[in-house]
Amino acid sequence: MSTSPTTTPTPTQPDAGWRQKHLLDVDALSLDEIQLVMRTTDAMKEVLSRPIAKVPALRGTNVTILFYEASTRTRVSFEVAAKNLSADVVNIAASTSSVTKGESLVDTIRTVEALGADMIVMRHGTSGAPYLAAEVFSGSILNGGDGWHAHPSQALLDLYTMRAHLGDVRGKKVVILGDILHSRVARSNLWSLTASGADLWLCAPSTLLRGFDAWAGRWAGGGAPGHAGFHVTSDVDAALRDADVVMALRLQRERMDAGLLPSLREYSARFGLTRERLAGARPDALVMHPGPMNEGVEIAPDVAILDRSVITEQVTNGVAVRMALLYLLAGGHPEAVTNA
Ligand code: CP
Repeated sequence: MSTSPTTTPTPTQPDAGWRQKHLLDVDALSLDEIQLVMRTTDAMKEVLSRPIAKVPALRGTNVTILFYEASTRTRVSFEVAAKNLSADVVNIAASTSSVTKGESLVDTIRTVEALGADMIVMRHGTSGAPYLAAEVFSGSILNGGDGWHAHPSQALLDLYTMRAHLGDVRGKKVVILGDILHSRVARSNLWSLTASGADLWLCAPSTLLRGFDAWAGRWAGGGAPGHAGFHVTSDVDAALRDADVVMALRLQRERMDAGLLPSLREYSARFGLTRERLAGARPDALVMHPGPMNEGVEIAPDVAILDRSVITEQVTNGVAVRMALLYLLAGGHPEAVTNA
């Protein structure tokens, strides 16, 4: 099949209301900007439905994908998204780069820029690393996940997937169940979902909720204008009762100190998402998981494949959402937009 670019999507004005140079976390986005990402993703979905699912919006733009941690979904979907927009894509895995010889993050970013990068999608195990990169890079940094801190493109694709089924998420009960403490997905979802007015519940053993109680209290005291409050609980049944969405999270054992959990078996027995537990939610409640899943630990295998599970749809939507993000950020590079 030919891959010749066709025309650029038209349903949105790419730079209308968008004022970001980088995508570091969702907390920097206004509700208007979040909604612009959703509308632009609709346009990208239309592009992806065409026989030739490619547009020239980023022709001549170099997108470098720089990952210091393992990834399947985020890395591949950013690459597919950039190629669908006709960008030139360079992949760098830190494990096979000069990082192994002691090169610093700042040196790597300067080197990648000297090699022609206009946009860098990066994942790093240290919270805040993309912010440091943004200080030294003249183009745009897209955070593909940093430590425990943030995973903004995941939160936006999660929101897009919810909206595709529920319409507006305002007032909808969304439960995030699992290892909240170590989860950049939970933290970014917290911003996007509360900005969108969802009734958000975070549920985990108390050891995996440290700090979130105080955070919820500050917001309840008016600490987050424009954001709804959120609930924090270790009571799974209360959390799941009448839920519209249940998102399970992986136990991040690679980031976990010893002693936070008695055993995986006990965690699974008390907090795993099973059919029995899910029965407390609405009959049509969406089942979500950002992946990668540990089936049989945080989610039962038969729950992951229920008709109402949208886990693979989340992955599919990741391409369109990331096309939208690259496209909107390229609005800072007029030639990339006007040549489209
Ligand atoms: N959800 C997510 O970030 O998955 P990957 O680690 O496979 O990118």
